[in-house]
Amino acid sequence: MCGIIGYCGKKLAAPILFEALKCLEYRGYDSAGMATLYDGQLLVEKDAGKIDEVNQKHNLEALPGNMAIGHTRWATHGGATQANAHPHMDCHSRLAVVHNGIIENYQTLRHELIKRGHHFNSETDTEVIPHLLEEEMQNGCALEQAVLTVAPKLKESYAFLALSLDDPGKIVGTRKNNPLLAGIDGDNNYVSSDALAFSKHTRRLITLGHTEVVVLSSDRVEFLDAEGNKLVKQAIELDESWADNGKNGYPTFMLKEIMEEPEVINKTVQQDERKFTEMALDILRARQVIIAACGTSRYAALVGRYLFSKIGRKFCDVVMASEFSYFADSVDKNTLVIAVSQSGETADVVEGAKTAKAAGAEIMSIVNRPNSTLADLSHQVICLKCGPEVSVAATKAFISQLAIFYLLSFSMVNSFSKAANQLGDMCSRVSKTLNCNNGRLYELSHQLKDRSDFYYIARGINFAIASEGALKLKEISYIHAEGMPAGELKHGTLALIEQGTPVVVICPADYTYDETLNNAIEAKSRGAYIIAVSDRESEIYDYWIKIPRVDEIIYPMVAVIPLQLLAYHMAISRGCDPDKPRNLAKSVTVK
Ligand code: F6R
Repeated sequence: MCGIIGYCGKKLAAPILFEALKCLEYRGYDSAGMATLYDGQLLVEKDAGKIDEVNQKHNLEALPGNMAIGHTRWATHGGATQANAHPHMDCHSRLAVVHNGIIENYQTLRHELIKRGHHFNSETDTEVIPHLLEEEMQNGCALEQAVLTVAPKLKESYAFLALSLDDPGKIVGTRKNNPLLAGIDGDNNYVSSDALAFSKHTRRLITLGHTEVVVLSSDRVEFLDAEGNKLVKQAIELDESWADNGKNGYPTFMLKEIMEEPEVINKTVQQDERKFTEMALDILRARQVIIAACGTSRYAALVGRYLFSKIGRKFCDVVMASEFSYFADSVDKNTLVIAVSQSGETADVVEGAKTAKAAGAEIMSIVNRPNSTLADLSHQVICLKCGPEVSVAATKAFISQLAIFYLLSFSMVNSFSKAANQLGDMCSRVSKTLNCNNGRLYELSHQLKDRSDFYYIARGINFAIASEGALKLKEISYIHAEGMPAGELKHGTLALIEQGTPVVVICPADYTYDETLNNAIEAKSRGAYIIAVSDRESEIYDYWIKIPRVDEIIYPMVAVIPLQLLAYHMAISRGCDPDKPRNLAKSVTVK
């Protein structure tokens, strides 16, 4: 995880980096730091804490100079301390490095460097990089040459940036298995893990391929391959929604992103009908179809599986991407893998897709980042088009993923336009669901905020929504929650129901209604407090969250919205920051 950013140009670098690091904070927020080159000095400030806290302590924003690198950290090797915060330096404090990834062979490299007389100041894997670069620079190398020599010694994942007093005027970066993109803007150039960090300044970007090197100076950006040959690369222009990365008046990104959902559906359905029809045919033709994803994306995939079966009559399996490699033996050229990932950088999904591709499988990915690692390695890419999702908890991306699965399933029966129109009509109902429930769920959250356990139950196509509701609650409000098929409750979990235990029952008036309600009655008779998400009233509900009546297969889309809002209000009423839940980061680029 971690986010890195570099800037070289005519402006003061530190304020630009400070803003950029705040945009990258979703990638990790346990420590932060910056290094600038100014007046023949290398100035480094860093500490444990969120960027605002580190800034308050060390005045990061006020560092002088027109060239700088910065970092926001999600600790992997070594705790969140000042010493472990990036940038890291060489023995003589002449060069600085920021890094995202894990250097798997760092212990061997570190022992060798110590034997050769290097001193280490941190417990991180990263620190081997500046020391290795130091040795090359001492041989009189240019910084890019040092990077080209050192990078092949590092296993297995890195995106790093370096600047040096011995070769000033440039920032050099490279990557392997972690993203790095350059933002091009004439006299002001940027390089970062994510375009979001610089999209306010420029939307022209160039993605680095594996092991490629970027040399950034104020007036040009050059690219080299791993042998040091110059590369000519084309810039792409990002959609303007990527320039909007503020909260737009909302108190949190999460609430902003939930409120964007109606509009997001409209954007997501703007897809190429012919492409979808062809992809749907590929799905139907494949001997086996496996959907691989993690977390919320996996729950969207579970809804997708029902849709494929119900509409397209195509059975497929959904595998947790972190478990995917254990099924790799049965993947071959007759397999179609649909990899679903908002970020397109989730290490487990990327690894799974790579393994499957190596076994001859066709890879179709559903991503929100068209320039991501997953998109790069896929044969076919579907873009969610929901704009940047900054809050760690996925909300609008989930709605977009559902919309894509509807479009794909209907395309299997040649009805793309029918689905697109039906989804378009949904926008007003989604808006209504949001507006009717927001205030009521705020009140409900105050009533329930001290409960320690929640259970979410549903059946059929709505089961994944129960799991997603539970995931949202636990990740941002730190309350234990479990989502399960309603029929499973009596096979064990019912033993945990006590007087007042909240049980959230997703029971729209569809083919699952009667049986789900029976399970709710079983829970209620053991004391459960029944919170029903439904368009049909029942006297057994203790609390009724109303959703609009929609076509049977569309219920997941409206049922999830109040659950996102409930989790949000629970987090706020418990004093938790829903945008930055503890221990988590948005882009999980480690396995
Ligand atoms: C939960 C959440 C995570 C992600 C998961 C996969 O709110 O956001 O569970 O869904 O880490 O991330 P992507 O979709 O980027 O692969």
